[in-house]
Amino acid sequence: MSQSTGVPFVFSHVLVTGGCGFIGSHLIRLLLSEYPGVRVTNLDALTYAGNPDNLRDVEGNAHYRFVHGNVCDANAVEATIAGGVDAVVNLAAETHVDRSILDPEAFLRTQILGTHVLLEAARSHGIARFLQVSTDEVYGDVRDGASRESDTLAPRSPYAASKAGADLQVLAYHHTYGMPVLITRGSNTYGSHQHPEKFIPLFITNLIDDEPVPLYGDGNNVRDWLHVDDHTRGVLHVLEHGDPGEVYNIGGGNPRTNRTITEQLVSLCGRAWESHVRHVTDREGHDRRYALDCAKSRALGWAPRRPLDEGLAATVQWYAQNEAWWRPLKAASFQAYYARQYAGRGLS
Ligand code: NAD
Ligand code: DAU
Repeated sequence: MSQSTGVPFVFSHVLVTGGCGFIGSHLIRLLLSEYPGVRVTNLDALTYAGNPDNLRDVEGNAHYRFVHGNVCDANAVEATIAGGVDAVVNLAAETHVDRSILDPEAFLRTQILGTHVLLEAARSHGIARFLQVSTDEVYGDVRDGASRESDTLAPRSPYAASKAGADLQVLAYHHTYGMPVLITRGSNTYGSHQHPEKFIPLFITNLIDDEPVPLYGDGNNVRDWLHVDDHTRGVLHVLEHGDPGEVYNIGGGNPRTNRTITEQLVSLCGRAWESHVRHVTDREGHDRRYALDCAKSRALGWAPRRPLDEGLAATVQWYAQNEAWWRPLKAASFQAYYARQYAGRGLS
């Protein structure tokens, strides 16, 4: 581990990729509210997961600029980075594991080619910090103990493999070219504005609609839940205080089985387990457990703050009060995906 200089990195213009997604939009709002004077450029391809509504409230902010573009497009990336950017935070990704099992190609394009294009542009412009937002899934299935940053990567889904490939490229640019890169590996994140294809928002919105929820397998898979506010604070803390070339785990410290989370959501939504929960055929290659050792990010001065029970209740309340946000996302094209994903699993 390299030694920290103790002097925080000061940035003036951040390029955030994937800023119209769940975590990216929260990150941009945090940057604009807590870092006065800092300019934020958001490069986003607006895939099905990118939603301009997530950032309506900052559209008029003089320090914010949106660029509609793809991280795989070298010309678009070059033109965007050339405007005085001194830090890049790369969140652009295909992020849903189930979709990576159905159609892996887009995951490889964005995660592998897209990260390469960004690294090349950042290198040629001498960007002062390149932070890659990664995931605990790169460590693979963790039956015992907790993953440390130095552990061998053992991804097991096409999504996780594409993220691990991106991590390795980022680290290679540090070793080969001396690029000042950082990687955060976050755990399962929840909160407002998360696409309703993911476990927690899917279950909340189905329950609001009095529909059954599809619990994979025996429901005893364990995820470590991290509130999105804690995740975004962790990313910015690492950007300011992390040592170039280093990886930092960012975990919520809230390991729960999917069954436990489902029980909580059913209760928070005023429904009953017997009538609303269906044990459906398991996800192919479903990792049983993720767990992160976060001693390194704790030593750097970051710690999660939001208790899970309070965060989950607030999240349920947000979806209950923001139907206009999620209903369009569960309309036509989502229904086609939903039918394909859950057909023959025993949901109906
Ligand atoms: P998301 O799916 O909500 O948003 C992804 C965003 O990236 C969208 O706005 C989409 O339009 C954009 N995008 C996709 N492909 C692109 C491309 N080729 N060019 C430009 N933009 C593109 O994702 P999220 O859940 O907010 O995750 C953000 C990042 O955090 C991802 O890198 C993900 O791997 C990582 N992460 C997520 C979690 C989690 O639980 N959600 C946990 C750990 C790490
Ligand atoms: O661990 C971090 C990762 O968390 C991120 O890197 C990914 O981008 C993000 O999508 C998330 O991946 P998961 O596969 O863990 O999240 P998902 O919300 O899809 O599922 C969470 C758990 O719930 C998982 O064990 C599968 C289960 N599940 C999921 C869905 C969609 C169900 O039981 N039923 C479902 O319908």
